[in-house]
Amino acid sequence: MVNKIHTLGGYIHEYQKSIANPEQFWAQTAESFYWRAKWDKVLEWDFKGPNVKWFINGKLNITENIFENQLFVQKDVPAIIWEPNDPNEEGKIITYGELFEEVQRFANTLKSLGVGKGDRVAIYMPMIPELTVALLACARIGAIHSVVFAGFSATSLAERIIDAEAKVLLTSDGSYRGLKKIPIKDIVDEALESCKSIEHCVVYKRTGDVISMKEGRDIWWHDAINEVSTQCEAEVMDAEDPLFILYTSGSTGKPKGIVHTTGGYMVYSAYTFKNVFQYSIGDVYFCTADIGWITGHSYIVYGPLLCGAQALMFEGVPTWPDPGRFWDIVEKYKVNQFYTAPTALRSLLALGAEHVEGKDLSSLKVLGTVGEPINEEAWHWYHDHIGKNRCPIVDTWWQTETGGVMISPLPGITPTKPSFATLPLPGIQPVIVDGEGKELLGNSVEGNLCVKYPWPGMLRTLWGDHERFRKTYFSSFDDMYFTGDGVKRDEDGYYRILGRVDDVINVSGHRLGTAEVENAINEHPLVNESAVVGYPHSIKGQGIYAFVVCTEFSTGGEEGIRTSVKKAVAKLIGPFARPDMVQIVPGLPKTRSGKIMRRILRKIAEGDASNLGDTTTLLDEDIVEVIIKGALVDVKR
Ligand code: WTA
Repeated sequence: MVNKIHTLGGYIHEYQKSIANPEQFWAQTAESFYWRAKWDKVLEWDFKGPNVKWFINGKLNITENIFENQLFVQKDVPAIIWEPNDPNEEGKIITYGELFEEVQRFANTLKSLGVGKGDRVAIYMPMIPELTVALLACARIGAIHSVVFAGFSATSLAERIIDAEAKVLLTSDGSYRGLKKIPIKDIVDEALESCKSIEHCVVYKRTGDVISMKEGRDIWWHDAINEVSTQCEAEVMDAEDPLFILYTSGSTGKPKGIVHTTGGYMVYSAYTFKNVFQYSIGDVYFCTADIGWITGHSYIVYGPLLCGAQALMFEGVPTWPDPGRFWDIVEKYKVNQFYTAPTALRSLLALGAEHVEGKDLSSLKVLGTVGEPINEEAWHWYHDHIGKNRCPIVDTWWQTETGGVMISPLPGITPTKPSFATLPLPGIQPVIVDGEGKELLGNSVEGNLCVKYPWPGMLRTLWGDHERFRKTYFSSFDDMYFTGDGVKRDEDGYYRILGRVDDVINVSGHRLGTAEVENAINEHPLVNESAVVGYPHSIKGQGIYAFVVCTEFSTGGEEGIRTSVKKAVAKLIGPFARPDMVQIVPGLPKTRSGKIMRRILRKIAEGDASNLGDTTTLLDEDIVEVIIKGALVDVKR
């Protein structure tokens, strides 16, 4: 079992130890896991390459650490507590013993379909226990899973399947979200038209809706698992063998396939879970994220299960049947740790405190947030109305790339400050650099957030594109990993994340590249070009503002185009990427060399044109005036 820090003094001591000798620190942490063969070197690294390897030549299987290694005490303990979308449908409690059986059965199913070590398996499923089974079954046999969030469109799903050259796709007939039913399999059918690599598609029956099954390719989950045994030996993996790929947005239109490996990710996800949530055996832990995102991978599946935790998994939405749903669940299962996104808190806050009243939230011990900066109002509402002033809030900063939490308070240990992620976890060495890459030392400084030493959970490459990996994370500043975030270190040395400094926006905690949205808009037949920026949005954190240049108008006029552009983006990327504002403009502000001056557009979308900065390099200065006049928000001059 990994070590848990108990006091502030303990944290400081552990942190210092981890910085003085990171290799020894992580080796000690890794010792508590079950390895088939021990590593012969802890770390090899070079940020120029870049090349990072942890626990070299160590052999293991992550599922042996979840199951075999703890089964003698955990067999009858719940691993997954599943709450369905509809509160009137019965949930499921699946013990470690039962989950182990399901995982082995499905691992054998994958094998029977020809999946082996190193093959990619794409997963496009709703939040049902079989999703967790799917991930772990891949890990059991050494196949690399690539989960695609089930809110993505057919086009986005296809793009990810093609990039990873996945052999098998796991999905369901449909899914429930509140009162809506989503035709998952129809979306899959559309996507698979362009995916040559897929040999089989396994379909879990969730809604029972009529769907089409393609002969020879599609198989029902319940039929497929009947044929195989419930025993499956774990494949012995190298510590550096890939465990999964997870696509995320970057500053170009093409999503990046973040690659995480087995040994380092295991150690890091478990260590951070245990400490950030101060999890104790017997606690019930509830993370509201979807497993389609990294938060679900690290803090619903791997981190909790590696620590023998009882992880609650929720299929539905926070506002159905009413905005008290999360709190009903907390009361029903006596949840001890609750982890969610600021955007969810802001929307619940806006719907009124009456939905919290009368709910017994006395089981709660720790509250967490992730995914975007939390504003002070939401922080206080969370603290007062949910935590009743007794639960510490952990504002956890991290990224798909980092594999696990990097900067966060330890609950009940680190004194918190609203909207501050506070201090780095042991083993993490953040640095702040200015635009030229000069490190800003001391307190009360602001700049770009980088990390100057590797940690076990960090990404190792981008699938199929190591050069893009180097360029994206290691070329802006010498010898450091660049996060893409702006940060401030205050007078107490506490970190406050300020948001992205690149062309990535964070909409309701979903990461989106502005270029991705632009590509989607530009597919519209009447659109000539477009520029997309984020702007402050009271619920979503950031909203999407698109400036669009059209060749001609259709019969619906400007309004018609606006609506159809929004629809086109929802269709091409997914409903969560639908722009909030679409302004039709005669042209975009560009430099003489043709580069769009996004800084100006960002200011206009923020409603503040009082200081547009240097506009002398603009090809056509008048265009700015025209855009301001037609802006969809009030613009201050
Ligand atoms: C942002 C989510 C402020 C940040 C785990 C980061 C945050 C991006 C926080 C990664 C936080 C995440 N405070 N901002 N506590 N946590 N972010 O890859 O901009 O979906 O770079 O990973 O979310 O988003 P991703």
